[in-house]
Amino acid sequence: MTIKKVCCLGAGYVGGPTCSIMAYKCPDIQVIVVDKSKQRIDEWNSDVLPIYEPGLDEVVKQCRGKNLHFSTEIETAIKEADLIFISVNTPTKTFGYGKGKAADLKYVELAARDIVETVESGFKIVVEKSTVPVKAAESISTILHSKQKAGVEFQVLSNPEFLAEGSAITDLLHAERVLIGGEQSPKGKLAIGALSWIYQHWIPEEKILTMDTWSSELSKLAANAFLAQRISSINALTPLCEETGADVSEVAKAIGKDSRIGSKFLQASVGFGGSCFQKDILNLVYICESLGLQEVAAYWNSVIVINDYQKRRFSLRIVHRLFNTVTDKRISILGFAFKKNTGDTRESAAIHLSKHLMDENAKLAIYDPKVDKQQILDDLSHPYISEDPSRVARLVTIHQSAYEAGQGSHALVICTEWDEFVKLDFRRMYEIMEKPAFVFDGRKILDHEALISIGFEVETIGKRFNQSANRLDDF
Ligand code: UDX
Ligand code: ADP
Repeated sequence: MTIKKVCCLGAGYVGGPTCSIMAYKCPDIQVIVVDKSKQRIDEWNSDVLPIYEPGLDEVVKQCRGKNLHFSTEIETAIKEADLIFISVNTPTKTFGYGKGKAADLKYVELAARDIVETVESGFKIVVEKSTVPVKAAESISTILHSKQKAGVEFQVLSNPEFLAEGSAITDLLHAERVLIGGEQSPKGKLAIGALSWIYQHWIPEEKILTMDTWSSELSKLAANAFLAQRISSINALTPLCEETGADVSEVAKAIGKDSRIGSKFLQASVGFGGSCFQKDILNLVYICESLGLQEVAAYWNSVIVINDYQKRRFSLRIVHRLFNTVTDKRISILGFAFKKNTGDTRESAAIHLSKHLMDENAKLAIYDPKVDKQQILDDLSHPYISEDPSRVARLVTIHQSAYEAGQGSHALVICTEWDEFVKLDFRRMYEIMEKPAFVFDGRKILDHEALISIGFEVETIGKRFNQSANRLDDF
């Protein structure tokens, strides 16, 4: 089976970059990315793309209008495509059964219904790309087959995406593996072969793993759970280091040299964020609980418990070190994205930290090189907006540079590891800040000894500088 046209439902962080690379590497395939949001599509068709991702602009500029198209014509795109990716949002439910844990599959289901109602003839491969709970492909398949018209045939595949934001283009171009799960029937194998053929345009065949659908779905959740577990494991050692005088970076270096452990994902931090880790673990926990596997659920849930503890612990440390009160103190939050090289703030540790400091009536001066002002204000408005609408306006200002944010502030708090923060002129910063001037490095990126020699009071994760610093008796 030859694929000539591919359509992707959802022009978000996953669908947009994935399809751009597919178009770039497969000039013989027409790729159409559609979205319900006209604004999003307009942005994809403009000079300022809706998401920031290093290298993405160049790829889009090269292919757009040739074999890469962004459109709101969802029906036409579905009708014409041989293969349809579902790459829509799957947020954690905020209501009802499974609230706070289960993925809300509303958008996936609606996408499946759009497909079945639109397709009038032919063999269509439907590929689940969004991260979904195990057995979601089965639900998609059931919806598709229940309303399938005569002369129409669907095969559903699972093809989870492993790209990380900020390095999406490199991750897509040089994927360590591509996972394709599908039915082990002749038609299922045909569909797997067709999708595999697309990837073989740039991924060596031996890196394309094919398996049954459920193993593929579970592998995606497991991969994210393992990565997040590593961060929580190293973060769990940080209070111990701070109490005993050990340095968590040295510990990470030492254990990372063991090739069985490896050195990646051992960077202690103020806590992991992003749209995937927490959501996927909660999904895993929810599935385990639904199956009565309480011990397994508790095990994975502890990864999130430690992450929440880490975020809360760091903000409490800020309050403690600023003489137990931050009321009306100006605190500069440097970085609001959940990691560098992205403008995405979903589940960013900066949101939790800022809200905690706002609860203490601190005045926050926030700067991030890539996050929109309105995004920051929206993130900090929930859930306060109804009870005290003026709260964010009273306590939060957004700035155009780190120096503007730092002016007159009592403390700098590094929340995102942007390279430009490492290169700041800290002598200049020290001059414009209140004294004593504090730096709280939640990412361990600064030269702490140099800062101390300038005169800063320095706190970081997993290392103690000041023997007399307040102990965190609240824990
Ligand atoms: C993650 C997975 O890496 C990716 O494979 C999957 O497809 C989607 O989820 P992403 O969330 O984009 O990607 O970024 P990632 O680089 O994994 O970082 C997630 C969070 O962990 C960030 O907040 C990051 O700062 C934090 N992190 C990462 C640490 O705190 N320490 C580390 O050592 C690594
Ligand atoms: P992700 O990070 O998983 O890519 P995003 O929230 O960035 O998620 O993007 C998902 C996109 O999917 C949104 O732009 C949303 O408007 C779009 N979307 C949701 N449902 C549909 C649908 N049925 N058809 C087309 N687009 C959809």
